[in-house]
Amino acid sequence: MKAVLCTHYGPPEALKLADIDAPRAGPGEALVRIKAVALNFFDTLLIAGKYQHKPPFPFSPGAEFAGIVEGVGSGAADVSPGDRVIGYSGWGAARELVSVSVQRLIKIPDRLDFERAAGLTVTYGTTLYALRERAGLKPGESLVVLGASGGTGLATIELGKIMGARVIACASSDDKLAFAREHGADEIVNYDRDDLRGALKKLGGERGIDVVYDPVGGRYAEPALRSLAWLGRYLVVGFAAGEIPRIPLNLALLKSCDIRGVSWGAWTSREPGKQRSLMADILKWTAEGRLSAHVQAVYPLSEIAAALDVLAARKAMGKIVLRV
Ligand SMILES: NC(=O)c1ccc[n+]([C@@H]2O[C@H](COP(=O)([O-])OP(=O)(O)OC[C@H]3O[C@@H](n4cnc5c(N)ncnc54)[C@H](OP(=O)(O)O)[C@@H]3O)[C@@H](O)[C@H]2O)c1
Repeated sequence: MKAVLCTHYGPPEALKLADIDAPRAGPGEALVRIKAVALNFFDTLLIAGKYQHKPPFPFSPGAEFAGIVEGVGSGAADVSPGDRVIGYSGWGAARELVSVSVQRLIKIPDRLDFERAAGLTVTYGTTLYALRERAGLKPGESLVVLGASGGTGLATIELGKIMGARVIACASSDDKLAFAREHGADEIVNYDRDDLRGALKKLGGERGIDVVYDPVGGRYAEPALRSLAWLGRYLVVGFAAGEIPRIPLNLALLKSCDIRGVSWGAWTSREPGKQRSLMADILKWTAEGRLSAHVQAVYPLSEIAAALDVLAARKAMGKIVLRV
């Protein structure tokens, strides 16, 4: 079978498309023929050796996928050959076949296409976990999202609206902000052009901002934290800007606010039952047309380098997907 392999750390151009032996489904596993792989910003970090996980070489990038079950191993219940599924594997999905624990697979309806389905697990899963389990977001609260047009950013706008929040989308260009508006943002801030602290002070009013969702870090983090309300919650999701901010802890003291970490992948291993019920909501809202699962571009597996370059160059709006 064809597989994209990372044989040493480097840029996307260092990845190779190779022929390797097909896997078999072990006990409790299913063999899945991959139809689409959704890429994430962290794939660019994983292949560069800059991510918290360092799989042994050679490995394939690609954390989330959609496909068709081709076979099942002993003791693997819940899925059967022919089922259309989505799944999460952390890495390893940029190939034609994967063997994966059936615990990590969820069946999808016939009318949901593979390309949109592939990108539902990481971005929407992380964000619903963050907003529901970590922030306890309530209807009527204000929700600021940084990097609002990216994968997790778009998910935050859409899920924030479903949860009844007033969503303030922040991004670096007017095109990205127009995209955020089209997907439901109530207010927009161009943080490349305008002063983020000043804009959030105005939009938060006397009370301030209830929840900040931050997948970007860098220079935007501190002004966003300073904009929080009394008992506000700051969600640490990622550092796409590259720099991990150093925050003066007195800011948390002054407003009795919380800085809350979001480690979705680790949570799915600790709470598989809760993750499944969260994904049931995501699939239901996608079927109802309330989540767009927007795909910006689809590339063939052989063009993974060009696909990852879109994410690395800060150009993605919604998801970038590989067709397998
Ligand atoms: N904690 C978790 O469980 C978890 C789960 C999934 C993802 N993540 C993390 O969340 C972050 C975002 O992931 P994503 O898939 O949403 O990424 P994405 O689609 O690439 O979006 C990231 C956004 O960050 C902003 N950004 C600012 N500086 C950037 C730079 N130098 N390069 C690229 N983007 C930059 C961009 O928006 P502007 O141009 O508007 O600033 C971009 O839209 C990543 O760090 C990822 O590792 C964490």
